[in-house]
Amino acid sequence: MAHLFNRNVLLGVSGGIAAYKSAELVRALQDRGAQVRVIMTHGAQEFITPLTLQALSGNPVHTELLDERAELGMGHIELARWADLLLVAPATADLISRLSAGRADDLLSTVALATAAPLMLAPAMNQQMWRDQATVDNVKTLADRGVHLVGPAAGQQACGDVGPGRMEAPAAIADAAAALFATGELAGKRVIITAGPTREALDPVRYISNNSSGKMGYALAQAAVDAGATTTLVSGPVNLTAPDHTRVVSVLSAEDMLEQCLKLLPECDIFIACAAVADYRPAAVQGQKIKKGPQEMTLQLVRTPDIVATVAAAEQRPYTVGFAAETNDVLAYAREKMQRKGLDMIIANDVADPTIGFNSDENAVTVLRRDNEQALARASKNTIARQIVHLIARDV
Ligand code: PMT
Repeated sequence: MAHLFNRNVLLGVSGGIAAYKSAELVRALQDRGAQVRVIMTHGAQEFITPLTLQALSGNPVHTELLDERAELGMGHIELARWADLLLVAPATADLISRLSAGRADDLLSTVALATAAPLMLAPAMNQQMWRDQATVDNVKTLADRGVHLVGPAAGQQACGDVGPGRMEAPAAIADAAAALFATGELAGKRVIITAGPTREALDPVRYISNNSSGKMGYALAQAAVDAGATTTLVSGPVNLTAPDHTRVVSVLSAEDMLEQCLKLLPECDIFIACAAVADYRPAAVQGQKIKKGPQEMTLQLVRTPDIVATVAAAEQRPYTVGFAAETNDVLAYAREKMQRKGLDMIIANDVADPTIGFNSDENAVTVLRRDNEQALARASKNTIARQIVHLIARDV
């Protein structure tokens, strides 16, 4: 069964009688592994209290677009970036109409415009409202834009009518949400992802390293697993749990990482180099702890092997993707790196901004291929990873 482990689901609840089922939906999403935050429209609060959904989700419920307290903490933009999926259940005829028109007149509709995450709607309304041409047109507009729909189901309605318009059952909605990530786009493919930092030893207790947390690489591994790939992480030292169904090969130094990657290479269709590999290592590793001595000390460093360039130059080369972590002239340096290292794709990552890139939960990147470039707006690393995997899947 598809799951929602490591997924941030932002549940939007609009004002219909089916809002009472949102409580069960929060549980169903959590049962599948999701972290859930809730936005309620004013109408929704006439049917169910924010307190109920706060208690169930374990997080404050967001209700106001212009809320001083929220703007200090998690305002609409933060919520939009946090979400890996915006799921609206129930989605009333009014909300569907406002989304189709691109309105931003309350918190929920504004977040729907502001998020790069996929949007899924579980419509719920009277059967005649569902059949009305205005609703039919609005739903088609949204579906044409790539919005996902689950339901509605048909049957007895709260108003006494019988027909289509009942909100789909919470378990079925949660399953549809999970299935959204299980794309199968890379079914049958074998993917290797390098992640995290490397450590280049100076002596038995000291090393040169960097601030990579591994979050971006591990998010890519989750997206590759969800896309159906056989996935291996070649990981430097990180404090993360690998996604289920991922094989992890732990390494320390750049040389270890290269050795393991080359061993795995004969069984690799796609290679993604996300690790922040040290470019230099100490020329010699001291066998014993270096003693404090004079005021100044000079370290001699030598270049480490370039792992991604070695993979890209292999005779049986996989589709090879690199990252370019830059603090200035990001796109120009990334283009040059793609060319020099012989890559099929490079992900340009501006790491001058400490809120994206190294050790952050969010990222914003530009995906460069030989013939095109595409910016991916700031979003959670999970969302960015899913978009990158989707772009790779189109090429292989
Ligand atoms: O781990 P996080 O905290 O989530 O942060 C994510 C990240 C910022 C580390 C990630 O998004 C990223 O940008 N990774 C690449 C970091 C890097 O080392 O970039 P670079 O521009 O120095 O290297 C270019 C490419 O060559 C990279 O694909 C790198 O993996 C590869 N490389 C570099 C040196 C080397 N000796 N061997 C390599 O394979």
